[in-house]
Amino acid sequence: MTGKKPSSSEKKEDGFFLSLEKRRENFLLPVESIPELKKQMMFLLLTLCYTDRKGGSAMNNRIGERIHALRKEQRLTQEELAELLQVSFQAVSKWENGNSLPDVSMLPLLANALHCSIDQLMGYAAEQKRITDYEERYQEEGYYWGVQPSHMCYEVMKLRPPQTPLRLLDVACGEGKNAVFFARNGYRVTAFDAARVGLDKAKRLAEKSRADVNFFQADLRDFRLDSEFDIVFCSGSLHYIPEKLRREILENYQEHTADSGLHALNVFVRKPFLVTESDKREGRYKWISGELFSYYADWLIVHCEEKIFDCMSGGSPHRHCMDTLYAVKQTAPV
Ligand SMILES: C[S@@+](CC[C@H](N)C(=O)[O-])C[C@H]1O[C@@H](n2cnc3c(N)ncnc32)[C@H](O)[C@@H]1O
Repeated sequence: MTGKKPSSSEKKEDGFFLSLEKRRENFLLPVESIPELKKQMMFLLLTLCYTDRKGGSAMNNRIGERIHALRKEQRLTQEELAELLQVSFQAVSKWENGNSLPDVSMLPLLANALHCSIDQLMGYAAEQKRITDYEERYQEEGYYWGVQPSHMCYEVMKLRPPQTPLRLLDVACGEGKNAVFFARNGYRVTAFDAARVGLDKAKRLAEKSRADVNFFQADLRDFRLDSEFDIVFCSGSLHYIPEKLRREILENYQEHTADSGLHALNVFVRKPFLVTESDKREGRYKWISGELFSYYADWLIVHCEEKIFDCMSGGSPHRHCMDTLYAVKQTAPV
């Protein structure tokens, strides 16, 4: 024993104290490992951002779930996605199960293949741009609107039975009870809503019911059709369209409806003697009584009605007035 204490800059290779030279040596990485380091740092940064917002351990699963959901939306198999990205399908499967994360250099390719932004892939889009308070309401366990189809679905089935696989669009489909019902009964269903949480539940309902529905997230106010449908269905959601957009949106749906196609729609209408708390919430614009019918002057109105009914949504009893319309597109005689 010499009795001389090691200075902190001299000792110990196997412990905390490395000599200054050794530290420098360790810090100077070979040139070829710099790109790798950059990637790792980017990854770390993304991880930190995400962890900061969502709280650590859920990260792998959340990204994996998103890849899974977006891949399904694009109707791609794991093998097809793997081929687009030039990786093995086992890699895709591992990402989706939360067993590994895609390399950061893969993110632009992945976003491109899944037709989304990198933000959306990382789960930021819905959080940054919350469109509807249903995003919170759908968080609760179970199905906020239940899983039984609306009575309007049965009317659609009577008017347009699915003898051939008719193309049906469910506008603002919520948690998917109507879309899934239609798909189970042989319609080719496309459905969208603004609430990501509702759509996740809708997808689970479809999976459980072995129903094939093309669900996607969109804002009713921005989204326009560019392909044709035989039936356009919308229940309980048209009052999210501000007055100035109504004609344009309905005309877009009408133009993209096949000849003899059906629109089955309902909308909450204003009645001065029926004002409720929920009417005052931002982003809700009840229509004028009869307004919905006025956009269908050149269609055959099969049925239209206005009804006042009791409602318990939100936990307190109140009443609404609703206009309902079933109209068929007529082609002009030649
Ligand atoms: C009363 S719920 C009706 C849901 C479904 N149609 C049903 O019958 O169960 C209204 C739905 O409109 C959706 N919504 C609200 N604003 C929207 C918007 N700007 N774009 C798309 N969907 C919207 C909500 O997320 C919610 O699912």
